[in-house]
Amino acid sequence: MMSLRFFLLLLFQFSVSGILAINNEDPTAKTMEDFSGYPLHESTDYPSAPPNSLVSFLRVDTTTLQNQIDELSTFSDTPAPSVTRILYTEKDVLARRYIKNLMGLSGLSVREDAVGNIFGRWDGYESDLVPVATGSHIDAIPYSGKYDGVVGVLGAIEAINVLKRSGFKPKRSLEVVLFTSEEPTRFGISCLGSRLLAGSEALAEALKTTVDGQNISFLEAARSAGYAKEHDDISSVFLKEGSYSAFVELHIEQGPILEAEGLSIGIVTAIAAPASLKVDFEGNGGHAGAVLMPNRNDAGLAAAELALAVEKHVLGSGSIDTVGTVGILELHPGAINSIPSKSHVEIDTRDIDEKRRNDVIEKIHQSATKIASKRGVRLSEFKIVNQDPPALSDNSVIEAMEAASKELNLTHKLMISRAYHDSLFMARVSPMGMLFIPCYKGYSHKPEEYASSHDMGNGVKVLAMTLAKLSLN
Ligand code: GLV
Ligand code: MN
Ligand code: MN
Repeated sequence: MMSLRFFLLLLFQFSVSGILAINNEDPTAKTMEDFSGYPLHESTDYPSAPPNSLVSFLRVDTTTLQNQIDELSTFSDTPAPSVTRILYTEKDVLARRYIKNLMGLSGLSVREDAVGNIFGRWDGYESDLVPVATGSHIDAIPYSGKYDGVVGVLGAIEAINVLKRSGFKPKRSLEVVLFTSEEPTRFGISCLGSRLLAGSEALAEALKTTVDGQNISFLEAARSAGYAKEHDDISSVFLKEGSYSAFVELHIEQGPILEAEGLSIGIVTAIAAPASLKVDFEGNGGHAGAVLMPNRNDAGLAAAELALAVEKHVLGSGSIDTVGTVGILELHPGAINSIPSKSHVEIDTRDIDEKRRNDVIEKIHQSATKIASKRGVRLSEFKIVNQDPPALSDNSVIEAMEAASKELNLTHKLMISRAYHDSLFMARVSPMGMLFIPCYKGYSHKPEEYASSHDMGNGVKVLAMTLAKLSLN
């Protein structure tokens, strides 16, 4: 015979499990959701913090992510395994369409601005709160790889999918951003889209007259891709201060540290200060056989000497953190039997210390002047294209990224980014943070660039968890 006490206990347990079921905490439902990867029913009982259980519900579809990366890499102007995707070319437009389509499939509402920054928004349940953003770029320098930037765009869309499948509901809206032209390839200016979002008046003005190497104007190129239709002034792109409550970018490290130390996640605390210069020399040129050596004003040798001076000044800074590269050196008329009458040099120099980087620029300028006078050539241009300060990540974002890594049991370290990213400019309008994942031997900007699906999966999980945390702040 069942005692009254035992009957009451059973009744109590039954009603408790009924309450749990009503609150969507039925363990059977959780197991089914876990198995299917999709929530069984929409909850209106919004959490005030990502529940600990979120960790076990974050499932990254790494196979699909890898397939998307491979598919996107086919929109390229050079053969695989290299990728070349230059701003506003046909391949860039097709790649953008691919991303917009994926954003749509993930249920994001998609919009574009006048230069083609693309935004995909998942509305939060408090949609009047300022959103949290994440994203990166998909343009690729000539003969580069398929992961630079792309992991931060496709990975961000997958992070949204991961959160949706887990049943999570964001409080603040979450926005995925594809930034226009992080790479300076076509118009010589890096982070074009994010620089404008951060409100660069100087760039908005310059773009009215900027042309590419084929003399195609920025506005004409933008219009051919379907942008900048309304008018020549693209300052409509500027974000208002406070447009995002936080911005996080996922990116391959592009350096060897994480792989060498066997770590899963890099948490970026600062981005080094980049600068780029354009220098032109002009000499008399002439016949390669007839003009004797003492009578030459060789613009090509002036450029060569300047390239060596860049190396000397960079090494002379006394810090391993100072770097300098001459990535473009063009000679005119470019004939073996003609003394170069014009040369064009483009110099990239960076440092984590802005003053030390600026000192190097000053020394390069002095060398260019001296070399020109010694060789009897004219220094017809010495232009500082950009001389950007470094950016610091925001503590609130660092804390969210660290907490996410810990909760996911992933090894991580704080580090600086020597490469620049759109985050450098997003830091001007929003608290910013960046997540790095390892890449093979630190290779980047070359076809051998590679990140494993496993590492990308970890990065996407930490990104998803970080976005969840920031959206509830
Ligand atoms: C980005 O592409 C960089 O050059 O750092
Ligand atoms: Mn790059
Ligand atoms: Mn990049």
